[in-house]
Amino acid sequence: MISGRFVSFEGIDGAGKSSHIDALAEWLRARGHEVVRTREPGGTPLAEGLREKLLHDAMDALTETLVVFAARRDHLEQLIRPALARGATVLCDRYTDATFAYQGGGHGVDVNLLRQLETQVQTGADGAVLHPDLTLWFDLDPALAAERRAAARTPDRFERQDLAFFTRVRDAYAARCAESPRRFVRLDASLPRDAVWAQIQSAASTRGWW
Ligand code: TYD
Repeated sequence: MISGRFVSFEGIDGAGKSSHIDALAEWLRARGHEVVRTREPGGTPLAEGLREKLLHDAMDALTETLVVFAARRDHLEQLIRPALARGATVLCDRYTDATFAYQGGGHGVDVNLLRQLETQVQTGADGAVLHPDLTLWFDLDPALAAERRAAARTPDRFERQDLAFFTRVRDAYAARCAESPRRFVRLDASLPRDAVWAQIQSAASTRGWW
């Protein structure tokens, strides 16, 4: 039986997830929990190889979709499920909501196809479809996110997309949030870092898991 908790972190590029994932990992470890911090695409040697391809090689949107789901299947089977089975907390930087947001919203891949892949890829030996227990969505205005990205680093293939693309990505996150209101917590990522952290701690403590 699965006993650990599975938390995913989502949002458009530049919304500031990474430092908060580190902070939550530290907060949980200080409470004596085993934490597995991982990311998608990635987390296993095969999936990290696919990530390199996805971020740097040109490919069409359906190919992208199949690559991220292939990486996800390996990641789930090799890393996430075993970690949850031994009771660890898994903190995952992006998961399937990112596919609905980027490939679905951003590139227009058919949402019904994404739903079918989600079901197939995430079904385990027990017949259940594995979803995160909690998804922290760092919501930020795409124009503000673009400013933050420009100040921060050299863009990859996704980060070079225009404002209209990121607006569609954000809208698709909002749609996923509306579909699963108990799983999702929307964080206002335009606030100062401490205020975002306070929202995360409140989401974590009201769940009563840790
Ligand atoms: P990201 O997680 O933002 O990592 P970093 O902060 O190191 O750049 O980058 C991963 C990129 O992959 C991001 O731009 C979104 C994209 N992506 C998809 O398009 N679909 C997916 O299903 C996932 C998981 C990520």
